[in-house]
Amino acid sequence: MNNPPKSGEMLHLRGNALDKGDPVALPLTQSSMFHLPGAPDGHATYGRVDNLTWVHLEHVLSHLENAPCLTFPSGMGAISAALFATVKAGSRILIPSDGYYVTRLLADRFLSNLGVSVEERPTLAFADGGFDGFDVVFVESPSNPGLDMIDLGAVAREVRAAGGITIADNTTLTPLGQRPFDLGVDIVVSSDTKAMGGHSDLLMGHVASRSAQIMERIEEWRRVSGAIPGPHEAWLLHRGLETLDVRFDRMCASAQVLAERFKAHKAVQQVRYPGLLDDPSYAVAQAQTTRFGFLLSITLEDEVKAERFINTCPLLRPATSFGGVHSSAERRARWGDDVDPAFVRLSVGCEPVEELWQALEASLNAL
Ligand SMILES: Cc1ncc(COP(=O)(O)O)c(C=O)c1O
Repeated sequence: MNNPPKSGEMLHLRGNALDKGDPVALPLTQSSMFHLPGAPDGHATYGRVDNLTWVHLEHVLSHLENAPCLTFPSGMGAISAALFATVKAGSRILIPSDGYYVTRLLADRFLSNLGVSVEERPTLAFADGGFDGFDVVFVESPSNPGLDMIDLGAVAREVRAAGGITIADNTTLTPLGQRPFDLGVDIVVSSDTKAMGGHSDLLMGHVASRSAQIMERIEEWRRVSGAIPGPHEAWLLHRGLETLDVRFDRMCASAQVLAERFKAHKAVQQVRYPGLLDDPSYAVAQAQTTRFGFLLSITLEDEVKAERFINTCPLLRPATSFGGVHSSAERRARWGDDVDPAFVRLSVGCEPVEELWQALEASLNAL
């Protein structure tokens, strides 16, 4: 297990570089033009290329990832950048068949049209068949929504030995919960719309890599494709990151308590949470993550009861997405994920855990 960065240090990154009279809070640079007489000589030029709010945000994200980082207007924007910057016609890529479904759509509906050959494997059988001949291997561990996990270090080692690169989607655990670079992964992508922002009020994403060559391509992709984040979203994400440590700590601690209690409740047929001793993901999670996360799933008796549970609990938002301060839940089968119709993905928020359990238990008891 690798140590996440020190959050106190992260909080003071900007402060320690300030000059007298500078604002302590991050200024929002809302400008498409910059004062640019004469030769550009390294100054900010144009809003698609430069933005001071991005620069500060990316400084903090790079500290969190311990790797250079670029931001994008959504998690899918980041995933698109990582894939379009690394594949070409004739490339072979491998993606999870049980991960976030829009990544599959991107590969199937766009990359394959450009002559990229796309193969899928379920997370639990991801290494079966090896990685020979793959240029890019995209992993998501834990998978969303099943929460299956794989040994990222072993995958990254094998992919590298076979001459490919590994991209890991680390959205569900964040850099505070899992450190893919320390396990040998080449590129990390994240939807910062989720826990990184944390308040369900923005869409953002980032790509990080320790390879200068890869980051050059990612930067070029952003500049040329125009897939740039809005300055206001960047500012909001920067603010969200200042409380990531506190939020993530409470969310993960509460998820552990709730998973154990769900397991003991008679209305719940199955619970998945990597922090449960008998969960299929426990051993891998124990070995390669620093926290077990804030996402869990419960399977109830049937679809009607699952809907009733989600829609009647006053401390649960019936909503898609996850990672916000408000606990939220949804039936993933409604989007076509290959799960039981009564499978509920639950994102544990920042409500005090006993208050939250009381509300969840009352809704379960009333089913
Ligand atoms: C694991 C994972 N990766 C990527 C994304 C895409 O992020 P965004 O919605 O910010 O584009 C999501 C969104 O739910 C996700 O769950």
